[in-house]
Amino acid sequence: MLKVAVVGVNKIGTIHCRYYDENPDTELTAVCDLEKDRAEAAATRFRSNAYTDLKVLLEQEEVDVVSVATAGEENGSHHFDPVMTVIEAGKDVLVEKPISNNIEEAREMVRFAAEKNVRLACNLNHRFVPAAFKAKQWIADGELGDLLFLNMKLTIQNPKDITPWFHLRALHPHSVDVMRYLAGDINRVQSFMTKAPERSSWSTASINIEFASGAVGHLTGSYDMSRRHPIEFCEAAGTKGRLTIDNVYENVHLYPHGSDELKVMRNSIMTGVGTFHETFTNRFDHFIDQIKTGVPPQNIDASGRDALACQEVIEAAVSSWKNGGAVVEVPQIVKAAVL
Ligand SMILES: NC(=O)c1ccc[n+]([C@@H]2O[C@H](COP(=O)([O-])OP(=O)(O)OC[C@H]3O[C@@H](n4cnc5c(N)ncnc54)[C@H](O)[C@@H]3O)[C@@H](O)[C@H]2O)c1
Repeated sequence: MLKVAVVGVNKIGTIHCRYYDENPDTELTAVCDLEKDRAEAAATRFRSNAYTDLKVLLEQEEVDVVSVATAGEENGSHHFDPVMTVIEAGKDVLVEKPISNNIEEAREMVRFAAEKNVRLACNLNHRFVPAAFKAKQWIADGELGDLLFLNMKLTIQNPKDITPWFHLRALHPHSVDVMRYLAGDINRVQSFMTKAPERSSWSTASINIEFASGAVGHLTGSYDMSRRHPIEFCEAAGTKGRLTIDNVYENVHLYPHGSDELKVMRNSIMTGVGTFHETFTNRFDHFIDQIKTGVPPQNIDASGRDALACQEVIEAAVSSWKNGGAVVEVPQIVKAAVL
């Protein structure tokens, strides 16, 4: 049984709590929030102990794993302090996305986790769905041949104009992670952005991408669309075939170049994903399984290193747009940071 604490127990932290409370392999030992009422409400609901100070929690409770679901500016500025405190204590940690909105802090978290040899994972939940697993398997099995392009679209409605780069930094860890999951590291980007009427932030973006493999791709992102309709679409193609993933997990199609017949896997009503929040369950199950089976920190899936790689791509896109749409190299510091 793994003993878990959750830090930041408002909207998303409550989903974390519910998961650890319901999983037979985990026990939600303690919760922590700067807001005493929130900590106590979560502790009462999930029959655990309430704290307002993570350091006190770590002194007084025996925990193996800490989930960090704080937020802050661009939904990521409050992650650094609790994550560093947990790493210092030598515990495994799962942090919400973005790992940080501040690239220097993201690099420091990944570097420190490697130094302390703790597992640092990120809730990059969009890849933890049967459709993405199948797409990854088809690519690995050579069904697409040599990969030539991968295009991605992720669009929702979010009217907040927190900073100019809120849309990029807060939403696109998900889309960039799925792109990297399927097609590997990204070397260079070039971006154009626009603002919907009355908005002050770059709420819609178009980003060209060059993968390290030589494949090319594109990301369309927006905070100006609707949550009622499909939010995500992915298309990857190579010398032998093309695949598409509809709306995160609804279905995945394979279109072989040499055949009129398609392969289709639809989201199963019995074994598939019921709602978007079940992508959390899949992601957390995977992390808990990796801890239980002793997967070493450097082999954790959707790791802090992956989350940092996504933020590096996003910062390169920001830099491109600040420089009039220039082509920008993505720093490959991620690899060095964990050696
Ligand atoms: N993976 C996903 O699909 C997904 C979806 C939505 C949001 N998120 C992410 O989830 C995170 C949380 O989002 P939210 O909407 O619940 O945020 P929120 O602001 O509603 O809640 C954050 C909580 O953290 C607490 N907190 C801040 N710093 C703290 C600290 N040092 N110690 C203890 N508590 C602290 C705050 O008091 C607050 O209660 C964000 O990073 C967001 O980007 C992920």
